[in-house]
Amino acid sequence: MFTRLSMLLFIAIIPTCLQFAQATQDANALVGLPRPDSTERTSPLDVDRLSSVLPIHDQNGSAPRSSKAIAELKSRAFGQQQRNRNCPAIWKTIAADLKLDFLGCNDHARSAVRFAFHDAAGYSSLNTLYGPASGGADGSLLLNDQEISRDANAPMKTFRDNLLLPKYNTYKSSGVGAADIVQFAGAIGVRSCPGGPRYKTVIGRTDDSNACPDGTLPAAFGANSSYSAIVQLFAQKGFNERDLAALLGAHSTSRAFAQQQNGIPSGRPQDSSPNVWDTAFYRQTQASQAPPGVYRFDSDVNVAQPETTCGKAFTDFGSSPPTDIGSAVWATAFADAMYRLSVLGISKDVVSGLVDCTSAVL
Ligand code: HEM
Repeated sequence: MFTRLSMLLFIAIIPTCLQFAQATQDANALVGLPRPDSTERTSPLDVDRLSSVLPIHDQNGSAPRSSKAIAELKSRAFGQQQRNRNCPAIWKTIAADLKLDFLGCNDHARSAVRFAFHDAAGYSSLNTLYGPASGGADGSLLLNDQEISRDANAPMKTFRDNLLLPKYNTYKSSGVGAADIVQFAGAIGVRSCPGGPRYKTVIGRTDDSNACPDGTLPAAFGANSSYSAIVQLFAQKGFNERDLAALLGAHSTSRAFAQQQNGIPSGRPQDSSPNVWDTAFYRQTQASQAPPGVYRFDSDVNVAQPETTCGKAFTDFGSSPPTDIGSAVWATAFADAMYRLSVLGISKDVVSGLVDCTSAVL
């Protein structure tokens, strides 16, 4: 009798479960967010390499797994359990808190965007596969004193020491991870700039306090700022030239504070409307001359050359009307690339188990 009743109940709930799964997929499509299976594009190089090596040994094929590999395996199992879990309420509190600190697309907001990029961009297909120092969106820029002190990161040290680290210390007892708060703050930073798009924002990464390898970040001036050097560096992170152009639009809000040796007085912007997430950066970087008061990076000008693939994407993103802040074409490309950036260095299995907290991003 009991068995028959259980069977009937089971049959009755199947259609409801199917409807729920479909509704979730449709909701993702509606807001223009990648469907869950699109995480496959996340760091394709790393994903392939990871799945070909796990779960046996490290790169030498003989040594036991590193602590990061073990953490990754645990995280996979945890990820399976987390699938479909709701975003923990604490992230709404953090969003409101950060939003206040980032008001008006201020210095903190812009630093948060750059910080998220620099933490994740420690990933490269040239890095060792496992930690220590395998790089990626692992919170090492927040946790490691040496990494934040490197030249490329130093302009963000004040932001890290005075804002993000204290926030992390406040919220970590509520289960908030360093890698997650770094990427979440980046997403709030983008949204704090008028026109900044919301993009898929996930939680549940594994932290790593080891510094990522040096030499994984792009150069704005000098030999490593050439078109080929920049394109190659981003390809090693899994990004094509259009992705690169989309991500570089973040310089629409940028100001440079540590480029005096490259001829940029402290605090000068890279387009004429810093603090607004608009497409002026694309047009002004491609123009024959920078507008008065605007100081362009050589790297931006090099990759924006109109006859190149990246330059064509610059032209495309820049062709929306000047008043079109939050341009849809650019926003879509940026949201896609920035989400993939936010999970760099994390295997596909783990990524698919991360909790979607996009709804908490105000
Ligand atoms: C070729 C690639 C890139 C190069 C060479 C580059 C270089 C730089 C440099 C030199 C600065 C000025 C730092 C200072 O002196 O204070 C800067 C600022 C900034 N960058 Fe990039 N960057 C690149 C890509 C990106 C990407 C992909 C993002 C985000 C998705 C990003 C976001 C920012 C932001 C928001 C700022 C402004 C920070 C502030 O105003 O305090 N950058 N970048």
